[in-house]
Amino acid sequence: MKQNIYDNNEFFQQYKALRARENNYNNLLEQPNFLTLVPALKDKVVLDIGCGMGGFAAACVNQGARHVTGIDISANMIATAKSLHTYENLTFEQAAFEDLIVPTASIDFISSSLAFHYIADFSQLIKKISVALRSDGILLFSIEHPIATSNKANEYSITDETGNILHFALDNYQNEGLRTQHWLVDNVMTYHRTMSTVLNTLIDNGLKIEKIIEPMPTDEAIAKLPSIQKELRRPSFLIVRARKV
Ligand SMILES: C[S@@+](CC[C@H](N)C(=O)[O-])C[C@H]1O[C@@H](n2cnc3c(N)ncnc32)[C@H](O)[C@@H]1O
Repeated sequence: MKQNIYDNNEFFQQYKALRARENNYNNLLEQPNFLTLVPALKDKVVLDIGCGMGGFAAACVNQGARHVTGIDISANMIATAKSLHTYENLTFEQAAFEDLIVPTASIDFISSSLAFHYIADFSQLIKKISVALRSDGILLFSIEHPIATSNKANEYSITDETGNILHFALDNYQNEGLRTQHWLVDNVMTYHRTMSTVLNTLIDNGLKIEKIIEPMPTDEAIAKLPSIQKELRRPSFLIVRARKV
């Protein structure tokens, strides 16, 4: 089932506030690592899935891409993206990726930052991406790490009486599927899959894995946001770059 939680107004306002903070997990951890794996984009055709407010799609235009399309299920996101970024060769479209028709072998670079864990059928998603990519094309995506998604609906960590984390909880890892949790609002739906499912699905669809990053905070990031230190103990994100062979 597709959930469009970013069009829930309470969720969207809180999400925007979170992203507006300079020292958030996106700016300190996920994006700095994600950006190291972006290929050369001169004259390339790009699709950004779950483009959100469009910042990455616009950056691809600035990197010399021939045409960039950002798609997102959320009307709020697409309206914001259109209001912030205008280029002749940049298109934003409100669509669920599941419903999008993408011509075969038409795209050089498909990116997606922190959106795939909202999509129920990972196998169909990757199959469609593989068909859409040109030979030698690149898929780069980040997701919430399987270690973090496994236990979502349950206890996150065991703390002592002063709030220090003694242990992170890891349970139900092998039980893939829907996790419904409170994140900003109640009943946010995401999907857990194991590391082997994520990687084997790429392999089974003709995508050669080139690099995997489980981001760790730098000293500078820790100085800006001390609580991010816990990312040295277990990863929150998984970033994968793969090539269509
Ligand atoms: C965490 S936000 C990330 C936004 C953006 N990629 C960024 O990093 O700033 C996840 C985005 O995925 C979008 N999304 C969720 N399910 C989707 C689907 N089935 N098809 C397209 N977009 C989807 C959401 O609306 C949201 O904008």
